Amino acid sequence: MALIYTWYGHGTSGLDIDGSKVLVDPYFTDNPAASAKPNEIEADYILITHGHGDHVGDAVSIAKRTGASVVTNFEIATWFQNQGVEAHAQHLGGGHQYPFGYVKLTLALHGSALPDGSDGGNPCGFLVTTSGHQKIYLAGDTGLFGDMSLIGEEGLDLAVIPIGDNYTMGPDDALRAVKLLQAKHVIPVHHSTWELIEQDADAWAGRVRSETQTEPHVLQPGESFTL
Ligand code: NI
Ligand code: MN
Repeated sequence: MALIYTWYGHGTSGLDIDGSKVLVDPYFTDNPAASAKPNEIEADYILITHGHGDHVGDAVSIAKRTGASVVTNFEIATWFQNQGVEAHAQHLGGGHQYPFGYVKLTLALHGSALPDGSDGGNPCGFLVTTSGHQKIYLAGDTGLFGDMSLIGEEGLDLAVIPIGDNYTMGPDDALRAVKLLQAKHVIPVHHSTWELIEQDADAWAGRVRSETQTEPHVLQPGESFTL
């Protein structure tokens, strides 16, 4: 079973799971780091971690053009449904089986107000178990929390975590997160979009390599990693 992870810049990820296109937090139009235009992106499902504008991004227009279903928490799912977008509501700790795999919503320490000020409920991350039994953890925007070790107990093949600081974990806490998650591979995201969250991802990867058993992969926007 092939799994291709693509980083589109900032917190925007794409998973190609045996041909199923799963887009996460599609932020292209106003994203200075974006490697693609929203109308170039294909999607079968769109996963949304929280309500902030840099994560909801272009999700409404991409969902309407592609017919993709949104997967997110109840509050954000309702917000999408009210705009005519098909959405499946889950909530923290709950999992659901989709054709491409099983998606569980995980804890995230962050905010979640939607762009129009609506209540976006609690932010989340995603633990995706593909139909080929690969486990990918997409942390979303979050601070460090000790229960990352519980997520790590699931046996992660890949963790995608923020390192940008200011809004999320910075490099030091992200390194601690790697130690709790114990994934086989880690990809740093949510950094260097703007000066405020500029980070030396290669230097961070060097620390991951020397202090953990996890293999880091530093991508440029538009680059992919095949698991
Ligand atoms: Ni955010
Ligand atoms: Mn963000």
